[in-house]
Formats: sequence, structure tokens, C-alpha cells
Amino acid sequence: MNTSAISVATSAHFIALEERYNARNYHPIPVVLERGQGVYVWDVEGKQYFDFLSAYSAVNQGHCHPRIVRALIEQAQKLTLTSRAFYNNLLGPYAEFITRFFGYDRVLPMNTGVEAGETAVKLARHWAYRVKGVPENQAKMIFVQGNFWGRTLAAISSSTDPLSYRDFGPFMPGYIIIPYDDLAALEEALQDPTVAGFMLEPIQGEAGVVVPNDNYLPGVRALCTRYNVLMIADEVQTGLGRTGRMLCCDHFGVRPDILVLGKALSGGVLPVSAVLSSNEIMLTIKPGEHGSTFGGNPLACAVAMEALQVLRDERLAENAERQGRVFRQRMSVLRERRPDLILTVRGKGLLNALVINDTSDGQMAWNLCLKLAENGLLAKPTHGNIIRLAPPLVITDDEMDAACSIIESVVLTF
Ligand SMILES: Cc1ncc(COP(=O)(O)O)c(C=O)c1O
Repeated sequence: MNTSAISVATSAHFIALEERYNARNYHPIPVVLERGQGVYVWDVEGKQYFDFLSAYSAVNQGHCHPRIVRALIEQAQKLTLTSRAFYNNLLGPYAEFITRFFGYDRVLPMNTGVEAGETAVKLARHWAYRVKGVPENQAKMIFVQGNFWGRTLAAISSSTDPLSYRDFGPFMPGYIIIPYDDLAALEEALQDPTVAGFMLEPIQGEAGVVVPNDNYLPGVRALCTRYNVLMIADEVQTGLGRTGRMLCCDHFGVRPDILVLGKALSGGVLPVSAVLSSNEIMLTIKPGEHGSTFGGNPLACAVAMEALQVLRDERLAENAERQGRVFRQRMSVLRERRPDLILTVRGKGLLNALVINDTSDGQMAWNLCLKLAENGLLAKPTHGNIIRLAPPLVITDDEMDAACSIIESVVLTF
């Protein structure tokens, strides 16, 4: 196709190309986006939308944040990738920056969220063998029902969603799955002396923004300490300002032994993830035992430092906290007007969800999202009847007001 043909191509054209040539591993809302700025994205026909998904919380700093894009471009013109066969002049400064930022001894840089989760599991197993004294190949990991940490075999082995694991077996051994938000179940599982770690999301994102009771995370922290098991917080989606604190664990004064970050660590411009922990845990891994060609590359380091600095400079966690309250307040009033349609409004900061009274197996929530898109707001159902609403954290008062008005008018006429 020549370039003039591209410039006049419509959404239907691009959708048809994906349908024809791409693997069918997603079911997207039928809009074709070509540009983004702040809380907005535009489709190929020029229609503007509020982005209330934020690429699953990867663009907390807003689309194409000028400072992050500048850091990306400047570094891309100098040096992008060295591999870890050599030192580069940004990994050291980045490691110092991010460990101080979050108050940990060391960082292990990776790329995607799932790689960081898998790194955390490997670290916990290594620590179990080399520090805790678990006999070889017997280390166990505890996960919770409804968890989501990605699509590798290690990750789907812990999944309780048949769509994720069915016909992909055999699975990883040594996993124990317990109910979420259930301290008694955790304590029972911790009786096994071969348990290395317990990995959980402080709020379950993909499961539909499931917020545990306030005593859960402090309880988890206390139990993990008591039974000498590593607490691993997967803050890939909840972290970096999304829930109204820099980390969701900060709401509860809880410090995990291993912290897993991804998504917004790059402001959404390239895959950057990280695992943070103590000397004791991190130094169990020796040269050659773990790695990644792209992990810790100078481009990622430059971008991640800027992305974190933007979160801090623009006080985005504080904005998320404030805008989130406004949002839930407006949505709660809306729920009172349409209790037949909206069952629950829940969330923290700007990670929120509407639970739809869906009597048609997810079709209503899907149709509601299509109507929202038609009216200029993008969101997508998760688990059939739950609509997650998570705009970039840069959203202003006026933008929040306009976005809430769209949701209200769509819901009231649905
Ligand atoms: C909590 C959580 N952990 C891990 C992941 C996996 O991240 P990635 O898709 O970058 O591998 C996700 C992705 O949605 C997530 O929500």
C-alpha cells in the first residue's frame, strides 16, 4: 500500500487487516487509535476519546508525556542497548535512583510485567534454598484465586481462570492456591515449612478491581514475617500512583519483601519492569543465574527515571486520590439512579470499576462500552460484567467532570 492510501484508510480497513493477518488472541473494542496526548486518544477518523483504560494502567503519566518522550528520543539517539555483557552509563544511576525512590537495597531490571513476576518467584525459590534451608526442588509458592500476573506458563499455572490455562498444560508444580482476602486460609497454607513466598496484588486488577478488607495486607505482612515466608507484592497494575499512593501497599503502611513493578514504569513508551528487594534476597542470585537481553538497557533506564520523576513532580498519586474520590462519588449517585443496571461502584484512587447487572453473559457490559465509545470514552469489560475505569492520572477537574458526564448520560439512557 502507498502512503496516500494509508492516509485515507478507515478504521474498517485496519480492523480487517488485523482480523486477516494477526493472531486472534484479543477481542478489542472496534476503534482504531492513531494518536494520544494526556487523557485523550484519537482514532484514524479524527474522533477524540477519553482513555479510561490507560493501556491497563501503563500510561499513568498520560499519553506521550513530553518529558518522557524527550528522554526516550534523547537516549535513543545516543545508545539503546548494550546487553549486560558490558556496563552502561545509565544502569548504575537508574539502580541508585529507583532503589532510593522505593527504599529497597537492590533492583533487578526486566522488561514486561510477567517477566518481573517470574523473576520474583525465582528469587523466592532461590532464597528458600539458599537462606531458609528448604530441601532441593521442594519450594512452594502461594497464590490467590483470581490472580493475574501475565501469560507465561509460570503465570498461567497459578491462574484460576479457565480461559487463561485451559489446554496449555502441563503446569508448574509447587503452587498452592488459596482464596483472596482470607487470612485464615493463608495461615493454614503457611503451616507447610517448604513455602518460599506468597505473591499477591494489593488490589486485584484483572479480576475486576477487587479491593480486599483494610486488615488484609497488614495481616499478610504479619503472617509472612511470622512464618518466614517472603511477601511479594505485584504492583504492576496498582503501583506508581494508580490507587492514590505511590504504591498501593503504602495505603496500609505495608512493605513487601519483594516489590514487582512494570507498566507505568516507562509511562507506556516501552516495556520496562523491575523487581526490588533486600541484599539478603537479591544477592542469592549470582552471575549467570538469571537475566534478559533487554533488561536494564540504557533506553529503558533513561525513560524509567524520567517516568518516576514525572509521577513525583506532578504529584500524580495525590491527583489520583482526589479525582478518584470525585469519580466514585459521582458514580455512586449514578448507581442510585440506575440500581437495576449498576450493582457496585468500587476502587481506590483512579483504579475503579462498575459492576454491571448483566443478565446476558457479558453482552450488556460490552454494549455499554460500545455506547461509551460512541460518546467519546474508552473502557473495556473485564470478566464479563465488570467495567474497569482507570484514566491517566494527569486528568484535570474539568476533564473528570466531562468524562463523568459522558458515563452518566450513557448509563441513564441505556
Ligand atoms: C497485576 C499484573 N501483574 C502482571 C501483569 C503482566 O504484565 P505484562 O502484560 O507487562 O507482562 C499484569 C498485566 O496486566 C498485571 O495486571
